[in-house]
Amino acid sequence: MRVKSNRRSFLKNATLLAGGAFSAQSIFNQAYGAVFEDMSTKYNSFSPSEMADQEDYWAMIQQAYSASSAPVLNLNNGGVSPSPMPVLQAVERYSQLSNQGPSYYMWRILDQGREPLREKLALLGGADPEEIAINRNATEALNTIIYGLDLSRGDEVIGCHFDYGNMMQAWRQRQEREGIVYKQLDFKFPIEDDDFIVQAYKEAITEKTKIIHVTHVINWIGQIMPVKKICRMAHEHGIEVIVDGAHSFGLLDFKIPELEGDYFGTSLHKYLSAPIGSGMLWIKKEKIGKVWPLLCNGQPKSENIRKFETIGTRSYPIEQGIGEALNFHNGIGTKRKEERVRYLKNYWAEKALEIPGVKIHTSLKAPYSCAIAGVSVEGLTPKDLENYLLSRFQIHTVAIPYRNLDCVRVSPHVYTRLSDLDKFVRALGILAAEHSPQNMGAKGS
Ligand SMILES: Cc1ncc(COP(=O)(O)O)c(C=O)c1O
Repeated sequence: MRVKSNRRSFLKNATLLAGGAFSAQSIFNQAYGAVFEDMSTKYNSFSPSEMADQEDYWAMIQQAYSASSAPVLNLNNGGVSPSPMPVLQAVERYSQLSNQGPSYYMWRILDQGREPLREKLALLGGADPEEIAINRNATEALNTIIYGLDLSRGDEVIGCHFDYGNMMQAWRQRQEREGIVYKQLDFKFPIEDDDFIVQAYKEAITEKTKIIHVTHVINWIGQIMPVKKICRMAHEHGIEVIVDGAHSFGLLDFKIPELEGDYFGTSLHKYLSAPIGSGMLWIKKEKIGKVWPLLCNGQPKSENIRKFETIGTRSYPIEQGIGEALNFHNGIGTKRKEERVRYLKNYWAEKALEIPGVKIHTSLKAPYSCAIAGVSVEGLTPKDLENYLLSRFQIHTVAIPYRNLDCVRVSPHVYTRLSDLDKFVRALGILAAEHSPQNMGAKGS
C-alpha cells in the first residue's frame, strides 16, 4: 500500500519558509512553483522510496541544475555540490544589490535576512533557532568547537583516522600546543555492524576521556556511522560528542537533536546545494555558554549563539542564497532526496559489481551508505583510475589512496542522470577489460 505523501505541504513549507529571508519573492516559486505543484499532484500518493525511480520527476530536478549539462560529468558531489539555478540567480541578484552600495545594502538590508534564515535552517534541522549559528563551512563550524572547549593537559579526545583531515589536524594542533591527548581509532571499512563500531569507541575510553569526535558519514568511502548509539554510550560515561555532519545534513532524513550529540557542524554547500562557502553550527542550548568563539566576541561566555557569528565581513549574497537552497530542498523533501541519491548510488554500484575486476569498497545496505561509494579496478591505482576516467571519458571522480583504502570515490547528486551513470559503468567495464590479467599478460608476452 502506498504511503500518502504530503507533497502539498512540502510545497507549502517551501513557501512559508521563504518568508522573511530575501527569498520572500522566491525565485524558486517563480521558476518552479507551478511545475512542483503539478508534480506534487501527480505523485501525491507515492512514498519517498517509490519516488526514487520516477524519472520524469527527477528530469525536472535535473533541468534546474546547469551542472547536469556540463561537459565533464561530475561524480564528486561529495567534495562540493553545485547549486540549482534559483540559488545561483539569488546570489547574483544579491551580489548586484550589494554592489550598488555595499555597506548600505549588505549591512542594513541583507543582514536582516539572517534571523529568518536561522529559523529556516532550524526547521530543517529540527532544532531551536537559538542553537543555530550560520557560518562559512564545516571546517569553521567544527574548529569553533574543537578550539572553543576548555581542555587541560592530559585530557583525552577520541576520534578516528577516517575523520576529515581539517578536523584531525585541528586536534593534533591542540595536542602539540596544549598537551591534550588525541587518540585515533582505526577501522577497516565497510562495516555492517553498529555494535562493533560503538564498542571500538567504548574500549578507547579512560577516566581522562572528555570528548568523542565522530563523522556522521565518512567522507573517504561513505560509511554511515552509528552516531546516536555512540552518543548514548558516550553520555553514559559523561563524555561529550562532536558530530561532523558535512555529508549528512541536507541528504539523510534526520533531525539534529535526534542524534543526541552535543555539537554538530556542517557545510551547506554539499548535498543541500547551498552557495559555495556556506556552513552551519549547532550547539545544544545549555552548552553554548561554555564554548569560546573561534573569532573573538565581546561576550565570549554569552549564551547567545550569535557570538559565533562575529566573523567580520562575509559574503552576504552567499549567506542569503542559502534561503533559496532551502526552498529548493524543501520542494523535494529530505527523505525523497535521500531515497533518490541512494538509488543512484546502488544503480551504478550494483552494475559495476558484475564487471570482473571491479570492486566496491562501501556497503550497499541502506543503513550504512547513501550517496558515496568507493570503487577500484584491478590493475589500476586509484590515481590511474581517476586520471583515465577524466582524460578518456570526461568523468570527474576523486582518488582515495588513504591508509587501508585504495579506491576512487564516486558521489552522484539529485541532478545526476541514469544515462550518466550508465556511461560511468561502461567506462569502468572498458578499463577493467583493458587491465584484466589476461589482457595484461597478452601485452607482456
Ligand atoms: C567529513 C567532512 N567534514 C568536513 C569537511 C569540510 O568541509 P568544508 O571544506 O566545507 O569546510 C569535509 C569536506 O569535504 C568533509 O568531507
